Amino acid sequence: MTRGMADAPQPHDRPYPQAGRERQIYPSPVGWKGTAFVDDEMELLARLNPKTVMMMGDNPALPRMPDRPQLLDFFRCRFGDLTVRHLYTSAKRALDDDQPEPVVLACLLHDISNGCLIRCDHGYWSAQLIAPYVSEEVAFAVQYHQALRYTPDPAAGYAYPESYHRFFGPDYAVPDYIRRDAEVAMAHPFYRSARLVTLYDTYFFDDYEPVDPEVFGGIIARHFRQPAEGLGFDASPSAHMWRTMIWPNNFL
Ligand SMILES: [Fe+2]
Ligand SMILES: [Fe+2]
Repeated sequence: MTRGMADAPQPHDRPYPQAGRERQIYPSPVGWKGTAFVDDEMELLARLNPKTVMMMGDNPALPRMPDRPQLLDFFRCRFGDLTVRHLYTSAKRALDDDQPEPVVLACLLHDISNGCLIRCDHGYWSAQLIAPYVSEEVAFAVQYHQALRYTPDPAAGYAYPESYHRFFGPDYAVPDYIRRDAEVAMAHPFYRSARLVTLYDTYFFDDYEPVDPEVFGGIIARHFRQPAEGLGFDASPSAHMWRTMIWPNNFL
């Protein structure tokens, strides 16, 4: 960890909010629309009483975040195992190849929204999440890696991923907005950085050694402007997105 643990506020002594009451969780609709989940909002509201509330604040079922969370705290306390391994491995491969530090950081963050926020259009969400804290180049590479993943560039040694045929079916048609944005990316001065992200985008089923995130500490310190108040509490344009990951079960 890059954070100085000694002077950081320790969250573990704080009481949990809503203690002694049943905390009801109503998942965000974007995560269940179109699935077998049965919309039970009316039932949950009908059950409210002094001992039963809608969850707000720290969920005791989740690892507790520090009061001033920094980037790797989200990897540690919130992100799914596959996303964490995928991001660490992609970034480590770029690091081992001596790619420029902004490219390594872009690899580390390229799918960050998949960790705990949202998967749909993940390149765009990920870029928006990190934009206040990284260079334009890093945010660009993260945003446009999504469109470029579908877009071969033989000169760069990149082909349409075999895995996408398995994920989406061989007849999957790439939507127009992806084609359009890939064209934008390929004509942009930062194209090379975004393309490198796709070249190091390594799937979870590949066999790589576990990566210690400490190896990215220096790069994060130099290229990710961690706010003193903690991610989520600095009033940046994406602070609410970090708070949503801190409290993913808040009712409102
Ligand atoms: Fe991605
Ligand atoms: Fe990826």
